[in-house]
Amino acid sequence: MTGELRDGGHITTREATREDEQRLREIAFTAKATWGYDRDRVRTWAETLQLFAKTPPTAEIYVAETAGLAVAWMRLVPGNESCILEDLWVEPISQRAGVGRRLFRFAERRACQLDAPRLEWEAEPNAIGFYERMGGRHIRDTPPNEWGRTLPVMAVFPSAGEAA
Ligand SMILES: CC(C)(COP(=O)(O)OP(=O)(O)OC[C@H]1O[C@@H](n2cnc3c(N)ncnc32)[C@H](O)[C@@H]1OP(=O)(O)O)[C@@H](O)C(=O)NCCC(=O)NCCS
Repeated sequence: MTGELRDGGHITTREATREDEQRLREIAFTAKATWGYDRDRVRTWAETLQLFAKTPPTAEIYVAETAGLAVAWMRLVPGNESCILEDLWVEPISQRAGVGRRLFRFAERRACQLDAPRLEWEAEPNAIGFYERMGGRHIRDTPPNEWGRTLPVMAVFPSAGEAA
């Protein structure tokens, strides 16, 4: 299945600002809800996301826009051993149109620029196919999280050549 973007596929990426926060919560809510999880629970989770107040100051949040509207975002937490991809959310009507790939490749390039030997993330089980398409490999499992779930941790190992 291939999606279509509002603006004929023209996507720009920029750093998020505090003014984006509510829109980013909406994107996270609608994106996570596509997997059929309890909507009230997902809404509560999204509405309490504190993207600027509670994120470490070194974290970077990027937004993908099309036709002047944010349609996806990701959060990257730099570290010496690894950069963590904390979030990657694409609003439902913009899924399967290459936006996730674009943000993921952007995260890979940032990890490379930051000299992190790997980019890792806890993978939503329904998104594992996407991450495998991005070259991700399973490296371990998490302990059970607040949803009572154990998630696979996946990683890519960007080098200047691969992430270019
Ligand atoms: C998973 C997600 C980030 C992927 O972003 P996207 O913009 O829809 O994906 P893209 O269009 O860039 O797809 C890139 C490739 O992955 C494939 N793909 C996308 N989603 C997939 C999925 N869920 N399962 C298997 N393959 C998938 C696409 O078909 C495409 O394949 P190609 O290389 O053959 O063209 C997005 O669908 C999303 O936000 N989903 C809901 C929330 C979520 O699960 N986020 C991840 C939290 S860890």
